[in-house]
Amino acid sequence: MDWGLKNRISRIIKPHDNKTVMLAIDHGYFLGPTEKLENPRKTVQQLEKFCDSIMLTRGILRTSVNAKFITPIVLRISGGSSIISNDLSNEKITTSIKESIRLNASAVAMSIFVGAKYEHNSLINLGNIVNEAEEYGMPVLAVTAVGKELEKRDARYLSLSCRIAAEFGAHIVKTYYCDNFEKVVNSCSIPIIIAGGPKINEQKALQLTYDAINAGASGVDMGRNIWQSDHPIEMIKAVRSIVHGNKSANEAYKNFKLAIQD
Ligand code: R5P
Repeated sequence: MDWGLKNRISRIIKPHDNKTVMLAIDHGYFLGPTEKLENPRKTVQQLEKFCDSIMLTRGILRTSVNAKFITPIVLRISGGSSIISNDLSNEKITTSIKESIRLNASAVAMSIFVGAKYEHNSLINLGNIVNEAEEYGMPVLAVTAVGKELEKRDARYLSLSCRIAAEFGAHIVKTYYCDNFEKVVNSCSIPIIIAGGPKINEQKALQLTYDAINAGASGVDMGRNIWQSDHPIEMIKAVRSIVHGNKSANEAYKNFKLAIQD
């Protein structure tokens, strides 16, 4: 692997344990001012010191993040449909690799929509972006989007999506946790990280994190279950203690409860 590519991946997936805590705040690119992410500057200031990297769009990076910020950036570079459009799968590349390098991104992220109307376009976008990004040693994170069709979140569907992302040359894939998650991990040749999905209670979100790590995930790219918590700092610390600290879900939740009582 090219040195630059390897070095950038090491900024995201920490070499000491091959794990990562990525904080996702890119939701506004199709959801607009998402609840409790109305002020991304505040979210970044509050949480950046507890994550290994932060995933966001160039607009929020430019307007809401201090340029002296040293936490690695994973830049979302696909988009083109909003939550009120007919088809969320109709995305194109919206931010160039040149711009990503100018913004000193450590990786770029884009969605693929396997099984959706614009599946073909999204996969060709992935192939093209891998071609371009690899010229500059820029890792590509493929996001296996599910959208509204939550019923497809099973190991068969997610294995299909993750495997296709790996076959197209993505360097990391983000997906959702599901029953029989080992099947997803074992049939995918690149590191898998999980999104948290819609907000659930903290105990369940920590269990989900633990189960994913236990099944072989390389970490999380979590958003709503952190910053929509009433205790986002304590929550990201609890997630981190599972991903990097080998804590069980019960230990992490116990520590979370103790911390919020202080
Ligand atoms: C979705 O495509 C976005 O990229 C989000 O970053 C992703 O869903 C992770 O956030 P959450 O943990 O809130 O699901």
